[in-house]
Amino acid sequence: MSFKEDLQKKTKEIEELLGQYLPEEKGFQKTVLEAMNYSVTAGGKRLRPMLMQETYRMFGGSGRVVEPFMAAIEMIHTYSLVHDDLPAMDNDEYRRGRKTTHAVYGEAFGILAGDALLNYAFETAAGALEQELSPRTAKAIGILASKAGIYGMIGGQVVDVESEGQAISRDKLDFIYRLKTSALIESSMMIGAVLAGASEDEVEKIRQVAEDVGVAFQIQDDILDVTSTLEVLGKPIHSDEKNEKTTYVTLEGLEQAKKDVEEISRRALGTLISLERKNPFLEELITMLITREK
Ligand code: IPE
Ligand code: IPE
Ligand code: MG
Ligand code: MG
Ligand code: MG
Repeated sequence: MSFKEDLQKKTKEIEELLGQYLPEEKGFQKTVLEAMNYSVTAGGKRLRPMLMQETYRMFGGSGRVVEPFMAAIEMIHTYSLVHDDLPAMDNDEYRRGRKTTHAVYGEAFGILAGDALLNYAFETAAGALEQELSPRTAKAIGILASKAGIYGMIGGQVVDVESEGQAISRDKLDFIYRLKTSALIESSMMIGAVLAGASEDEVEKIRQVAEDVGVAFQIQDDILDVTSTLEVLGKPIHSDEKNEKTTYVTLEGLEQAKKDVEEISRRALGTLISLERKNPFLEELITMLITREK
């Protein structure tokens, strides 16, 4: 099987898994349940659950305890996008090739669907304790919480929004990217490693890999915001310019940004292959992200 076929197969399996964890659309709160499922089922690359599963496999994991965490991280990621698109934040109308959740269900339901997804993620992850009541599972829930929070993704979004319309330093930009984007990728890969029983040193190495993958991923996102199209990306281009964001591209220029995506990704790969455990698919996945077009 080629890498591309393998990637498609794995993405489809993750879609099916996610489907099993989504709430039923019934009861008086049906509308918000529909809005939650609308945003999650819109598609997307499913990168975070895939990174989690592949890291789990890399460290010899073969059970199902990772599955609720895969669903949970995609719910948290999706909630972060639903809120990121709100009028008070990036104010974008398209996401994953569809109208944004708030554009379809209204702003209040964009807020509520995001809140609901965040909480449902933890409800889902807590279900893993029924499968396996172990220190590993408990640790994984802690990682999920902290990397999504004020010292993780939210912290990055805060500084991102607060810095709109301002010139910011490279230091501050790096801080934003490490939190708003790397944190959830770190969460994904660290949880995979922890659940499979990786050592503390290994988990820290994996965190470093994920941090680099996340920063490179966000720089590429900034590049695509300038060079791609709505049709290919499934979300509006020039969103950063509209919101007067300082991005890696505005600070360093397009050519340097492209070089740095490659360099940072190569450093991630170097750290990954320095580990005793191997996962060739994961290596190819990270390599593929360097040239991703969406
Ligand atoms: C978008 O993430 C937000 C960023 C961190 C740049 P993705 O590009 O992974 O979005 P989906 O999940 O594929 O829609
Ligand atoms: C957002 O970064 C990262 C999140 C935590 C949602 P962007 O605002 O650049 O993400 P897109 O371009 O809207 O997907
Ligand atoms: Mg944003
Ligand atoms: Mg945005
Ligand atoms: Mg962007």
